[in-house]
Amino acid sequence: MRIAISTGGGDAPGLNAVIRAAVLAAADRGWHVLGIKKGYAGLLGDDEVIPLTRDEVRGIGHLGGTILRTTNRGNPFSYPVRQPDGSVVEVDRSDELLENARNLGINALISIGGDGSLAIAEKLANKGMRVVCVPKTIDNDVSGTLSTFGFDTAVNTAMEAIDKLHTTAESHDRVIVMEVMGRHAGFIALHSGVAGAAHVILIPEIPYDLSAVCEAIMTRERRGRFFDIVVAAEGAFPKGGAESVMGGALPGEAMRLGGIAERLARQIQDKTGKECRSLVLGHLQRGGMPTGYDRLLATRFGGAAVQAVEDGKWGHMVALQSPNIVTVPVADALRHPKRVDLGHDLMRTARRLGISFGD
Ligand code: F6P
Repeated sequence: MRIAISTGGGDAPGLNAVIRAAVLAAADRGWHVLGIKKGYAGLLGDDEVIPLTRDEVRGIGHLGGTILRTTNRGNPFSYPVRQPDGSVVEVDRSDELLENARNLGINALISIGGDGSLAIAEKLANKGMRVVCVPKTIDNDVSGTLSTFGFDTAVNTAMEAIDKLHTTAESHDRVIVMEVMGRHAGFIALHSGVAGAAHVILIPEIPYDLSAVCEAIMTRERRGRFFDIVVAAEGAFPKGGAESVMGGALPGEAMRLGGIAERLARQIQDKTGKECRSLVLGHLQRGGMPTGYDRLLATRFGGAAVQAVEDGKWGHMVALQSPNIVTVPVADALRHPKRVDLGHDLMRTARRLGISFGD
C-alpha cells in the first residue's frame, strides 16, 4: 500500500500533528507514505513529492505550520499557469494530476484542508481518485465535525491579545477595535470575545448597526466604564452594507478581506467622540504551537484518516462527533457550511453578560 498526503489552503496549527500521526499509523501497517509538497504542486511538477517515514515526522507534532508547505492558489481544476507574455490563465490540470499519481503508484490520498480543499478532494474523488479528507481551518466553519484543529489555538491567541488590550485601553479610556479572522463565520470572534471579556462582538452572521455599537459604548460610559474592547470578525459587515475588502488578490486566490477594524474605529470615534484605536491580529492566529486540545484532535484525525483508508471510506472526511471520531461524506459536510448558531448557549450567555452584537 502506498498513500500520499497533501496539505492545502491556509495553514493551521496542528497540521504537522496530523501528518505525524498518519505517517506513524501507516508505518505501523507496513505502508509507504509520500508527501506532496505545496498543496498539489508536487504532483504537477511544480514542487516535490517526498517519502515520509518515521524519520521525517520525528519531533514535529508540537510545531505550527506544515512540513509539506501549502498554498491557497493550487486548485488543480483551475490552476494558475503563467503564460509567455507574463499573463496568468487558469487551467484544468486534474487529469495530469491523476496520471502522475498513478505513475507514482499512489493507491490513496489523504487530503488535509478546509472547505476549498474539501471541494477539490470531492471533485478528485468523482474522477476516480481514492481520497480521504481531514478537515482543517482555524475558522471552524466546516460542518459535520464539532470542531476543526487550529481553532482552539487561534481562539487562545486572540483571547491573550484581548487580555493585553484591556489594560492599555483602560489606562487611556480608549475604544480598541480588534479584527480577527473569520471570513463567513464568527466563531473566533465569538469564542475569543467571550473568553477575553470583550464588550462588543461583531460577526458575519449578524449584520451590525453602528448606532447600536455606539449605544453599547455610551451605556458603559454612563456606568462609569470609560474603555471598550470591540472584537470584529474580518467578514463582519453593517446592515445593508458590505464586507471590507482589501484588494490585491493574486490569480487563483479568493478575495482578501480586511479593514473592518480601522473603518469601525474611525466611525465610532466620529460618532461618540471617544478616542479609538484599531489593530488587525491577522496571521498571528495561524502561527505558533498548537494547544494541547488541537494536538490531540489533530493526532486523532491523522490516525483515523489512515483507518478510513484501510476501510475504503473514499470521499469521506474524519470528524469529531464527541466523544468519537467518525467519518462523514465530504459532500454532506460541504452542503451546509457551518456558521455560528444564533440560538446557541454561548450566544445567549454572551447576551446575558451584556455583550453587544451590534444588533
Ligand atoms: O480560512 C482561514 C483564513 O484564516 C480566513 O479567515 C482568512 O480570510 C484567510 O484564511 C486568509 O488567508 P491568506 O492570508 O493565507 O490568504
